[in-house]
Amino acid sequence: MTIVPLEVIHNLLLGVKPISKLMQRYHLTGINSNSGKVQEVYTLYSRFTPPRGKDVLEIGPGQTLDVLETALTAGAVSCTAVDVLRYVSEKQTKKTQIDYILYDGRRLPFNSCEFDCIWSHTAFEHVRDPATTVAECFRVLRHGGHLVALIDLGDHSYYGLQPPQPLKLFDCLRYPEWLWNLMKWNRSSYTNRLRKSDWIRLFTEAGFVIEHQESTVSDVVVKALPSLPYLQRYSYEDAVTNVITLWLRKPQA
Ligand SMILES: C[S@@+](CC[C@H](N)C(=O)[O-])C[C@H]1O[C@@H](n2cnc3c(N)ncnc32)[C@H](O)[C@@H]1O
Repeated sequence: MTIVPLEVIHNLLLGVKPISKLMQRYHLTGINSNSGKVQEVYTLYSRFTPPRGKDVLEIGPGQTLDVLETALTAGAVSCTAVDVLRYVSEKQTKKTQIDYILYDGRRLPFNSCEFDCIWSHTAFEHVRDPATTVAECFRVLRHGGHLVALIDLGDHSYYGLQPPQPLKLFDCLRYPEWLWNLMKWNRSSYTNRLRKSDWIRLFTEAGFVIEHQESTVSDVVVKALPSLPYLQRYSYEDAVTNVITLWLRKPQA
């Protein structure tokens, strides 16, 4: 059960730098070093545009650079990873040819038109300023370049729980914006709660063209939808879609 005051206290504590630094050791960012998962994500990214001969940027790699290592092996000219938190140690980054860059989550620290491909797996839902991140991706991508993003629209607070709680998939949508931010802003389980239509609008308004898209729908939510009042304000598609993958192109100048 979610006890809102406890969530708020937890979040406020994580606003204290030494505490958040300590807790970061316990984060699990996703793929980690699961080689099957690395291959799966690499296959998704390179399905329509292989990285051979390309300059590739990954947004939010978390604890693994293995997907970019795979791209280098496949002939990428350069691979760069950008994150807001250091999950890969300096010792590890010294051993690789990948540029690992940290920034403040606002302006991407790259020149305009520097990359041919931008890849991102379950990171866009965590960005604190989605419109800026999308606009920045557009800026640093070359004309004709591609962005592939898998975005997980579920409430991450309940992932990994035993027994699983599929009915809580969109629990994050119960709360007004100000309260949700007070509960989550400093936490790794923060999600910006944008729905499928919001992402499509943001990317297209920034200038991207959608070349291909795939969505996953939660069957549990589909069945329970009439009894979930907090989902009634969304379109059917936004209320039931829990993962989207977008293949986007920056048009030629
Ligand atoms: C759930 S993890 C996903 C990690 C990895 N892509 C994976 O699938 O295993 C989300 C990652 O996005 C990063 N992140 C959050 N906001 C970001 C931003 N504005 N720019 C770049 N990365 C960001 C987080 O620090 C974290 O590394």
